Amino acid sequence: MKLTAEEIQNNWIDLEETIKSYISEPRRSQLLDFYSQYAERIMMMPASYKKEYHNAFPGGYVDHILRVVDCALKLNDVWIEMGVDNSTYTKEELVFAALNHDLGKIGDEEHESYVPQTDQWRKDKLGEDYTFNTKLAFASVPDRGLYLLQQHGIKYSFNEMITIQTHDGLYDEGNKKYLMAWTPEQRPRTSLPFIVHQADLMASRIEFEREWLPKFKTNTPKNFKLDTPSITSTEKKIPIKTKALGNIQSENLKNMLKNL
Ligand SMILES: [Fe+2]
Repeated sequence: MKLTAEEIQNNWIDLEETIKSYISEPRRSQLLDFYSQYAERIMMMPASYKKEYHNAFPGGYVDHILRVVDCALKLNDVWIEMGVDNSTYTKEELVFAALNHDLGKIGDEEHESYVPQTDQWRKDKLGEDYTFNTKLAFASVPDRGLYLLQQHGIKYSFNEMITIQTHDGLYDEGNKKYLMAWTPEQRPRTSLPFIVHQADLMASRIEFEREWLPKFKTNTPKNFKLDTPSITSTEKKIPIKTKALGNIQSENLKNMLKNL
C-alpha cells in the first residue's frame, strides 16, 4: 500500500476536523496544539514497523487512527441498537480514546519510535521497512501515550484511561486484570473499552485485508457455496412462544409457558 502526498495531506485535515467536531474545550485547543507540534512526525509515520503488520507505510498511522475513529462511531451505533448502557460514557470519550489509543507509537518528545531500516537484508527478507529507535526507553504503547498526554497537560477521564490502556484487548496479557476478572466488581463499569477494542481490531483487520488478500487471491476457492437453507417468510412469522410450545411434551410446562 502507498498513500499519495495528497491523501496524506487530506488525512491530516480529517484528523484536525475530528478533534474540532468531537472534542470540547479546553482539550480541543490543547489537542490541536499537541498534534500541530508533532505534525510532521505524526503525518508521515507508519502504523507499524513491519510490512506483515498493518499500515507499515508513510502516512499509515493517521490512516489507521481515522479508520479506528470511524469504526468506533459505527460500532457504537450497533452497541446502542443492541442495548448497551450508553449513559456510562460519552461520545467525546469514545472519540478521544479512539483518536489517542496508539499515541504511544509516536515516541517521546525528542525521539520517534520508528526509524527507516538501514539493514537491507532485514528489509528484503523480514519486510522490516522500519525499525525501533533504540534511543527511546521502553514503554508499552498505552503507557507512553498516556504519559505524553499528561506531559502536555491534556487531562483524560477515568473511562478514557482504561480504554486506552486496554485497547489491545486480550492480545495484551497485561489486560487480563481488567478483562478477565472473575468478580463483577472488578469488571469495567462501562462497555467503552470493548467498543474501542473492537474498532481497533476491525480497522487493523481491514488494513491487513487490503494489503495482503490481493496477494492470496489465487488460493480462494472459486465455486464454494454453502448449502444452507434460507429462512422463509412463513418461518419468520411464527411467534417464538408458539414455536417453543409446539416442541414441549409436558402439560405442566406448557401451562407455565402459556402464562408467561
Ligand atoms: Fe490501533
